[in-house]
Amino acid sequence: MISKETIDKVFETARVEEVIGDFVQLKKSGANFKGLSPFTDERTPSFMVSPVKQIWKDFSSGKGGNAVSFLMEHEHLTYPEAVKYLAKKYNIEIEETELSNEDKEQANERESMYLVSEFAQKYFTSTLWESEAGKAIGLTYFKERGFTNETIKKFQLGYSPDQWEAFTKHALDNAYKLEYLDKTGLTIVKGEKKFDRFKGRVMFPIHSMSGRVLGFGGRILVNDKKAAKYLNSPESEIYHKSKVLYGLYQAKQSIAKEDNCYLVEGYTDVIQFNQRGIENVVSSSGTALTSEQIRLVNRLTKNITVLFDGDAAGLRASLRGIDLILEQGMNVKVCTFPEGEDPDSFARENGLEDLSLYLQENAQDFIQFKASVLVNEAKNDPVKKADTIRDIINSIAKIPDRIQREVYVQECARIMDISEDVLFNTLAQIGKHELREANKKHKQEQKAFDVVRNDEQQFKKIDFQQELERQIIQLLLLYGNKTEDFEDLLLKENEKGELVLEPEIHTARVFEKIYVDLQQDEVELTNPIFKKIYDELVVALSQDENKFSVDSYINHAEPQVASEITSILMEDEKYALHNWDRKDILVKSKTDALSQLVTETILNLRCHLIEKRVEQLQDDTIGKNDGSNSDILEEIMSYHQLRMLLSRKLNRVL
Ligand code: CTP
Ligand code: MN
Repeated sequence: MISKETIDKVFETARVEEVIGDFVQLKKSGANFKGLSPFTDERTPSFMVSPVKQIWKDFSSGKGGNAVSFLMEHEHLTYPEAVKYLAKKYNIEIEETELSNEDKEQANERESMYLVSEFAQKYFTSTLWESEAGKAIGLTYFKERGFTNETIKKFQLGYSPDQWEAFTKHALDNAYKLEYLDKTGLTIVKGEKKFDRFKGRVMFPIHSMSGRVLGFGGRILVNDKKAAKYLNSPESEIYHKSKVLYGLYQAKQSIAKEDNCYLVEGYTDVIQFNQRGIENVVSSSGTALTSEQIRLVNRLTKNITVLFDGDAAGLRASLRGIDLILEQGMNVKVCTFPEGEDPDSFARENGLEDLSLYLQENAQDFIQFKASVLVNEAKNDPVKKADTIRDIINSIAKIPDRIQREVYVQECARIMDISEDVLFNTLAQIGKHELREANKKHKQEQKAFDVVRNDEQQFKKIDFQQELERQIIQLLLLYGNKTEDFEDLLLKENEKGELVLEPEIHTARVFEKIYVDLQQDEVELTNPIFKKIYDELVVALSQDENKFSVDSYINHAEPQVASEITSILMEDEKYALHNWDRKDILVKSKTDALSQLVTETILNLRCHLIEKRVEQLQDDTIGKNDGSNSDILEEIMSYHQLRMLLSRKLNRVL
């Protein structure tokens, strides 16, 4: 774990405009910088960076945050990766804290499983490089496969000794629990007996998108007909085969940069490609491709190129999996290798230039490829040809874009030598079925919508309330620490014995005023994020005396909270953005009438919440004729009085 001191130092040093400036061209504009959004295609700048507030906001995508969150969004880094990136940029030494035995115990189950997997990876790696057997057997094997030291390190490959419980014993000696060794499948537990699952295998760790070790693949090194060539970690709470792509951690940046992802069959293909210099490669490792896996890629690029081995048998089966990719609106290409070659062997035998050229020249559009493969198979068989047409049209029907579908139909008609009409008719038949399904779904949604419409009244009020809650947070963030004179109206009896409101001035900090006033009616913010921010801000403001700073608060907040805060803080900037070149428009300064604004906002929120409470009480009385009604009515009456009082105060403020 990176120490808190390091994180603090990184935040103190990093300048958001410098960090973002490495990726986006920024132009100075008043107190801010502006640029083109790196998250969308746009011609007019809607991306803002505030050096004063040390935050950024992208008005076209709605994203925003600090330097770290920018790196997380733009470079797809995890939080610790982003902190490390900044530390490197600013030459800050990273201090990591060791986990104590106690820490290990406290970590929750998943975390324990992550930790033991990381521990295993380190053990297998050091065994590979340092033990006699590791060097003689494991390392020699990888070298024979043509892997360089650099490649072996990049993929954290390892070796598991050919002994029954070498790893298990080592882990237990280091205070890792058998429970988690069992749950991650690293150890097979049979009654009293326990042994290493990956005994005598070379190890391929499988990483999450953010680089955590989730599981392993282990390849056997001896010729044993009975044992599987590759053994994988079992499904577990941290390793879900269907949601992981091997190599994605190492590939993600290259995928985004190249705007394409190569999909291969296994570990060795991924590694060999990387070694050749093609890094945008992933593999679904032995299992059929799933929609979840495709979604992982879809976040990085819309283009997938599937690479097939030379053998034709597997090809047909694989074609089906590709419809899943089409369904997500991605562009799919396929590329086959010469008979007897797979991506691994081909990349090993050819240099980068030849490999790249081969991929470029042989990658074909999937639909065209499928059509030509099937057409060849069904050449002189009319029955088969009919099946083929349906098969192809089924694939085309998966494509969400209508125009793209039509282009494909025309293409396929040409390739398969059939009239377009036949194909369009088949497509329409499939389409009708899907339309019916879609209609059903639409009707259900419509029903849900009607319910909402009947509740429109309530709907508006919720929005109003959100707005007020948001204003409260904004006041706390911007002016929480400011000291102001507030005019309070106190209910007093005058000489004639009448109740009147008398003004009384008292001085307080803005956050105290808000906190105390809201406390009076025991009002709580309803939006969970606002409530969280509110609670945290009140604590931070009251503890830190005058040291509270919004910057440091954002830097330590969760991403969701940080993003909400930045959009609140950037509201003024948005206004400035719209009037970019019209400097004559002055934004009315909110501080002018700060105490008034605070009072007004609090009163509005209190009034609103009381109204809501009264409405609810009135609903409760409906249909009730027993004694409980009078209690409720009494409560309503007292709320009415409070409401009137608040209105009078509010009128005075306005
Ligand atoms: N694979 C797998 N499970 C198997 C066989 C293969 O997961 N039982 C995957 C592996 O990821 C491997 C890829 O498919 O990298 C290619 O398979 P294969 O060529 O059989 O594996 P190699 O290790 O290359 O074996 P060989 O040296 O015999 O080619
Ligand atoms: Mn092979």
